[in-house]
Amino acid sequence: YRTLRVALLGAGAVGSQVADLLLKHGDELADRAGAKLELAGIAVRNLDSKRDADLPRELFTTDAETLIVGSDIVIELMGGIEPARTQVLHAIASGADVVTANKALLATHGSEVFEAADQVGAEVYYEAAAAGAIPIIRPLRDSLAGDRVVRIMGIVNGTTNYILDRMDTEGADFADVLAQAQALGYAEADPTADVEGYDAAQKAAILASLAFHTTVPLDAVHREGITSVDAAMIESARHAGYVIKLLAVCERLTAADGSESISVRVYPALVDRSHPLASVHGANNAVFVQAEAAGDLMFYGAGAGGVQTASAVLGDVVSAARRHIAGGVGVGESTRANLPAVPIGHVITRY
Ligand code: HSE
Repeated sequence: YRTLRVALLGAGAVGSQVADLLLKHGDELADRAGAKLELAGIAVRNLDSKRDADLPRELFTTDAETLIVGSDIVIELMGGIEPARTQVLHAIASGADVVTANKALLATHGSEVFEAADQVGAEVYYEAAAAGAIPIIRPLRDSLAGDRVVRIMGIVNGTTNYILDRMDTEGADFADVLAQAQALGYAEADPTADVEGYDAAQKAAILASLAFHTTVPLDAVHREGITSVDAAMIESARHAGYVIKLLAVCERLTAADGSESISVRVYPALVDRSHPLASVHGANNAVFVQAEAAGDLMFYGAGAGGVQTASAVLGDVVSAARRHIAGGVGVGESTRANLPAVPIGHVITRY
């Protein structure tokens, strides 16, 4: 096999599992990818931080910039906008394909990153950027490319689903369950991103952009979190036959004159207890997609967690390797239309 050089940026909950699996299953992945994947190094901020996996010390470096040069595939799992943005652009300019799970970066600087990649014929893979282990990026971009997506309703934040579920099933207290979600590693470093809906809004912008072949800016996403949901609200919803879920709703709207726009919004919604989304428990995620020809589809699984999300990252690494071996023939981002994103508030409350 030809050897491809892989650089990993970040060794947090997801990064350390990616490195571990890459080292453990190297031979099997080489057979699937048609190339040997050589982990050239792992760039981190602090060499002495504790890791979730036992990784060879000599792989670690604090010099991401040098590690990137000469790499065929750069896996960015640092999170946050900077220095991730600079390093991703550096990787693209150096001729690498990029695999990233960085929802914040793609939701705010996606156009810049995709354009930079298009200019040099590189590819950016981001299956892990929304709904963790659940394959949803490829289905929206590829499998449904021949259809017309009408609506997506997603439970795309594990932390808030875990909190709402425990409040609903056990009458648990908000602050207690949040602390547990943090201890279990679901929550972001700053859980405000979870409970105020910022994390879900970033994922909604990414999913809506793919589903509607457009670019949805993050500030066009209406956002409400779950901090105002209390035990009394959960109880009255239950009496009426509903469960409260933090939903990301992405909808295609058609005006009377036939012109189209889209609405993307994140808010605590009333979901009928008979709806498939009502039975998504714990930190799981689910994405319910309605398409004109395909009808209703539901994608379900682990939306958070280091090793689970590492599965999606490694799938992207194999895809990137296959593309390299095939001579750089990519899946390619389709030309993006320019559907206006209309910020519509909390208009539909029951599903
Ligand atoms: N904090 C996120 C969640 C992690 O709870 O879903 C995955 O993006």
